[in-house]
This record gives sequence, C-alpha cells and structure tokens, in this order.
Amino acid sequence: MTRALVLTSSILDGNSLALAEHFQARAVEQGGLEVTTRDLIADDLPHLALPELSSWQVPAEERTAEQRELATRSNALIEELLAHDVLVLAVPLYNLGIPSQMKAWFDRVMRAGETFRYTEKGPQGLVEGKRAVILAARGGQYAGTELDSQTPHLKSMLGLMGIREVDVVFAEGLAMGEAPRKAALQEARKAIDGLIQRLV
Ligand SMILES: Cc1cc2nc3c(=O)[nH]c(=O)nc-3n(C[C@H](O)[C@H](O)[C@H](O)COP(=O)(O)O)c2cc1C
Repeated sequence: MTRALVLTSSILDGNSLALAEHFQARAVEQGGLEVTTRDLIADDLPHLALPELSSWQVPAEERTAEQRELATRSNALIEELLAHDVLVLAVPLYNLGIPSQMKAWFDRVMRAGETFRYTEKGPQGLVEGKRAVILAARGGQYAGTELDSQTPHLKSMLGLMGIREVDVVFAEGLAMGEAPRKAALQEARKAIDGLIQRLV
C-alpha cells in the first residue's frame, strides 16, 4: 500500500482544498493508496523561534523538560513525513508565495542532522525514496514565468531534503472569471487522475 500525506494550507474555503479532496476521493476509488490529511491552518504552527530551534540542537538526553516539549512538534512532523511515500502539497498562491502556515511546517521538517546534513560538498538530503506532488491554486497565471517563484521555492526545499521527484498540477486563472475557474479546476482534476494511476 502506498501512503500519501496530503498537507492543506488554504485560509479560504479554497480551490486548493477542492483539489486535495479530489486527490483523496480518487485515491479511495482507485485503491492501493492510503491518504492521511493534515490541515496546516487548523494546526496553526507558530513562527519558528530561537527556543524551539535551540531545543533541536541539544542532544535528546540532555534536553530540559521545556526543550523536550518544544522538540516534540518538529519530531512528530518529521516522523509523519518519513512514514509516508508521497507528500502532496495543496498550495494556494498568497502574495506570490506559499502560505506562512506551510512555511512554518517546512521550518520544522527541514532539520539539519535529521532530514538533511551539511557536507563539504554542500547540503545532502536524508529523506530517501519519496516523491512529492504540488497542487498549485492561483488567482492569476504565472506557470513558467519569472513571477512563479513559488514552485521553484517548494522544489528547492523538497530537494534539499532529498525529495527530487516532484510533479506539479497547476490550477491557474482562478480569479479570472467563473468559466476560466471551472475549466482550470477541471483540467487540474484530470491531471490528478492521471497522476494517481502512476503513484499506485
Ligand atoms: C491573501 C491572498 C493573497 C493572494 N495573492 C495572490 C497572488 O499573489 N497572485 C495570485 O494570482 N493570486 C493571489 N490570490 C488568489 C489566490 O491564489 C486564489 O484565491 C487561490 O484560489 C488560492 O487558493 P485557495 O482558494 O485554495 O485558498 C491571493 C488570495 C489571497 C486570499
């Protein structure tokens, strides 16, 4: 059974949520793909700050009670990531970037010594054998242009951890009228259907 972890991050009743739901529904229909969903908006992870960062840098057996508590958050998210085969990021474009809630998730799973390490040749990913799918929902149209700094950023973060097989499904022009919105979502659903067949 292939295991997929779907992360949602829409502050709206969003288009990216609709794509994540479609992914999950198709996975159930098709079988062979078990889906866990995490709503990063409901999780409401705080910005990463020094006390939490420092807690990771102390060896586990030397942490204070407070540091143990602080480290739990990142430990649990990394454990969850490692327990799945496919990471699905349902990502709205907010002010040309990813939602800050999703950045807070990356800030906790991109941990030196755990998911990547620094070497003489640069960083080396430690997360092996996983792939990712980005479900990108946007009001405008940016794919393939300089203004799409979001998907390269996501790919760089995933790549640093060793996740280099990344598929992107774009749903663009969602704020450009009802007909283009429906057409874009329909196209994206079709792309998801094709992807799911390859993932199982
Ligand atoms: C705070 C905010 C910022 C946004 N910024 C952009 C933007 O920079 N470019 C764009 O094309 N659309 C932008 N949009 C529109 C969203 O990308 C669009 O509503 C998309 O459907 C968001 O995904 P969601 O519906 O899953 O939340 C923004 C929407 C919000 C709420």
